[in-house]
Amino acid sequence: MCGIVGYIGERQASDILIKGLSRLEYRGYDSAGIAIANGKLEVRKKKGKIVHLSNDLERAGISGKIGIGHTRWATHGAPNDVNAHPHVSSDGTFALVHNGIIENYTALRESLSSRGYNFTSQTDTEVLVRLIEDVQKNTGLSLGKAVRQALSQVEGAYGIALVSGEDSDMLIAARKGSPLLLGIGEGEYFLGSDAAPIIEYTKKVVYLNDGELIIVRRSGFKVFSVEDEALDKTVHELEWDLEQIEKGGYEHFMLKEIMEQPSAVENSMRGRMLDHDPFVQLGGMMDSIEDLKNASRIILCACGTSWHAALVGEYLIESLARIPVEVEYASEFRYRNPILREGDAVIVISQSGETADTLAAMEEAQKNNVPVYGICNTVGSTIARETKAGVYLHAGPEIGVASTKAFTAQVSVLTQLALKLSQGRTLGDDELKEYVTEMKAIPAKIQQVLDSADYVKEISQIYGHASNFLYLGRGPNFPVALEGALKLKEISYIHAEGYPAAEMKHGPIALIDESMPVVFLAMQDSSYQKVLSNIEEVAARDGIVIAVTDANNGDLDALCEHVIRIPKTIELLSPLLSVVPLQLLSYYIAVMRGCEVDQPRNLAKSVTVE
Ligand code: AGP
Ligand code: GLU
Repeated sequence: MCGIVGYIGERQASDILIKGLSRLEYRGYDSAGIAIANGKLEVRKKKGKIVHLSNDLERAGISGKIGIGHTRWATHGAPNDVNAHPHVSSDGTFALVHNGIIENYTALRESLSSRGYNFTSQTDTEVLVRLIEDVQKNTGLSLGKAVRQALSQVEGAYGIALVSGEDSDMLIAARKGSPLLLGIGEGEYFLGSDAAPIIEYTKKVVYLNDGELIIVRRSGFKVFSVEDEALDKTVHELEWDLEQIEKGGYEHFMLKEIMEQPSAVENSMRGRMLDHDPFVQLGGMMDSIEDLKNASRIILCACGTSWHAALVGEYLIESLARIPVEVEYASEFRYRNPILREGDAVIVISQSGETADTLAAMEEAQKNNVPVYGICNTVGSTIARETKAGVYLHAGPEIGVASTKAFTAQVSVLTQLALKLSQGRTLGDDELKEYVTEMKAIPAKIQQVLDSADYVKEISQIYGHASNFLYLGRGPNFPVALEGALKLKEISYIHAEGYPAAEMKHGPIALIDESMPVVFLAMQDSSYQKVLSNIEEVAARDGIVIAVTDANNGDLDALCEHVIRIPKTIELLSPLLSVVPLQLLSYYIAVMRGCEVDQPRNLAKSVTVE
């Protein structure tokens, strides 16, 4: 949700800021803006995508070797030029960009207005700017200390960066709930909401933690705690490289990431799956495996696609390890005062590791002294740093807003966890070895599914104009039905719903007619005959059936308009394969409809606001 960049060094800041914002655009693209200090403060900001700002800057030609930038996902105030960031102090001396929500902005705005401060925008962010001004006016504090004091009056989440027209050798940044990291170059520094705008210049980074404030000068940086104490920070080495965050010749990041799934799933297993005892080694989680084996209940908390992966995880862990699992929307769990008891364990699942609701669910569990573990894809993210232990997906950066390879990598890690929890309890070595062998075959089987992409593309051209889709599946493929529906609706804007196939007769069957494509996950598994009956029910009402199946007996061909065949695998592992045609179907339909596949309207890659 929004991207922040900053630069201080000896190069022209404008180009570095614009390129950095372009690499963060997947986080939000309602408007964009930059502020550059060159003895005075120059601010340019425009509604819409970064290209509009870039064109404006080419005309303006702003010089300066220090600046900040922002690409916005609006929460308060429409996406327009006035509400675009940066927001500037009344006297024009400093500019600020912000990621997050100032929850008490109404009260602060009323108080500041009553003291004569004027507001030009409808944003919550501008209130923070006026508050800093007010602190400076009343205390005479330096800008850095005034920011710290102002933030002590703020409720909500923020990642902020400031630049001053009065000091062209100082960047200020602070965070609470919204990510920020500093890239360390040679006599130059780079701020970013994530690694994408930094990786081109340096792999040395420092992660800001909640409550910390950093002052950056060309000679070095200082980080201060909430209590204003100087902190020593660890310098980390980024694992990514530039090529990984580029499109690599694909038209869209989403297609690239769909096609990367064989390697993403392979990487999620690398060094973790052995065909001999201990069979599964989950690095950071290993010290907690016994605690998890003895848990009376495991609660999986997540949002969106990660919540769908958690649902698959429930089938995996309960079927294999026989440990009770509950799956919770993080956004519900955090507010409903959940009953948490001794013996509970929580696992938060998140590609970005920064989703506000998931972070809050983590904090809710920690507040109740329940151990929290993390499964996430972003090294150094808040979840990675603040959970008791966890497992990285190692799926590589996922730039497309619609999550694809992260889903299959999450299911892969949850499978490995389920197998580990079953070891020595519910599965013998032979069964474990069978699963490990099959898991190692999954990447090649995903590739086989990808090889049929052209057939899925043909189907998409037929149904790309439909107004509604229904996705139906049973068992571990019920969450896949939900995921397929989410993919379609979030990138093609077609209304789509996923249901357990058996639920169709309890209402959704009323929707069936000759204009309604119904996608069935029809694996030849324990529920196959039941799904066949559901398909008959749809066909009998002239519904359009598209089946994804591993069956080769032809009994679907007479019933379905289209049958997408995928390789066979163990029933519980089939979501790793059955989801892929649904990802491709949604992608090709969205492209056919001319949608912004990588940056769908109203969405952002990482939802770091509530
Ligand atoms: C999925 O395609 C969406 N981008 C969205 O539902 C996403 O899965 C959700 O916001 C959770 O993100 P996270 O995995 O980074 O926490
Ligand atoms: N709440 C701020 C606004 O609406 C920042 C939103 C964001 O994170 O982009 O402008």
